[in-house]
Amino acid sequence: MNSASSLKNKIVDLVGLKKYFPIRAGVFLQVKGWVKALESVTLSIAENTVIGVVGESGCGKTTLAKLLVKIHEPTDGKVIFYKDGKEHDITNKLGDVRSVFRRDVQMIYQNPFDSLDPRMSIYDIIAEPLKAHKIFEHKAEERDYIKELLQKVGLTPDMLDRYPHEFSGGQRQRIAIARAIALKPRLVVCDEPTSALDVSVQNQIINLLFKLRSEYNMSYLFISHNLDVVRYLSDRIYIMYLGNVVEEGDSEEVFSKPLHPYTITLMHAIPDWNPKVRKFHKLVLEGEPPSPINPPSGCPFHPRCQYAQNICKKEKPALLGEKHKVACHFPQA
Ligand SMILES: Nc1ncnc2c1ncn2[C@@H]1O[C@H](COP(=O)(O)OP(=O)(O)O)[C@@H](O)[C@H]1O
Ligand code: SF4
Ligand SMILES: [Mg+2]
Repeated sequence: MNSASSLKNKIVDLVGLKKYFPIRAGVFLQVKGWVKALESVTLSIAENTVIGVVGESGCGKTTLAKLLVKIHEPTDGKVIFYKDGKEHDITNKLGDVRSVFRRDVQMIYQNPFDSLDPRMSIYDIIAEPLKAHKIFEHKAEERDYIKELLQKVGLTPDMLDRYPHEFSGGQRQRIAIARAIALKPRLVVCDEPTSALDVSVQNQIINLLFKLRSEYNMSYLFISHNLDVVRYLSDRIYIMYLGNVVEEGDSEEVFSKPLHPYTITLMHAIPDWNPKVRKFHKLVLEGEPPSPINPPSGCPFHPRCQYAQNICKKEKPALLGEKHKVACHFPQA
């Protein structure tokens, strides 16, 4: 059994998470099939760490994030939450830990044009979680705290009574960040927080997120379709393909010794990626990923893999390894 001290360091474990969405059609909306968004994902998040999750659009990243923050419930698998050395199975429920979980775990969405309510002032947007958790007794204290938060995210206190439409995409994302950190969470799920923004402001937002992380001692689950973005930020990286984790490991290890053909093709898109390794692999990612409604047999990557053999079409490779894991019959050392 785990001792209380080893559990103290944990925030969340996702265990074998699977999510299938029903496809309904006809007058009675019968189930005609399933979108297999997530197959079986296991992932652990400890205090003060950054977990990077990378993969092409449609591979299940947002579904994973929504299962973690409990917007969705899994078709199978478990979500375990840890608080003060105690383990809480929160699959399909929150029960006694509802309030602490809602404080400790926050999410920043991809598109700040959708995620901020246009009818609410900046003050009300940021005050909402503070009010829900009854943080301040006096309005003046709350207002001062929100002003301070605005400064922390690079905005000015005079913006308080304005509305989201008056702000640029980058400024809106700063407002969303202020709201996410207002309750001093232990974990923030960042779902492609810069991909809807102009290239010129993307780095500013990333830098802000990382400045705040060290100040607040938070962990991030940082999702991106671009390996380059998570490269320097993540302690550990999970590479996803069609609802599956195909490679995972400590960031430096995965970057210096990628094992999965898909990871290697993603790395080829990074301009200054290790030229020595590049020489041995001339991989280019062709075509679109297959549909999760009707995924390929065997290894999900086989239709696009230049190393595919017969076995790859028949048998799905398991995710194997100690700290550095790969799901491939012929890993590229
Ligand atoms: N609510 C839903 N109902 C049906 N299908 C969904 C739903 N949400 C996501 N999907 C599908 O699940 C797959 C994974 O989606 P998503 O998790 O958004 O991927 P990503 O964030 O990596 O782009 C996609 O095929 C998507 O169309
Ligand atoms: S299992 Fe086969 S098809 Fe899949 S990535 Fe490895 S070599 Fe390619
Ligand atoms: Mg997404």
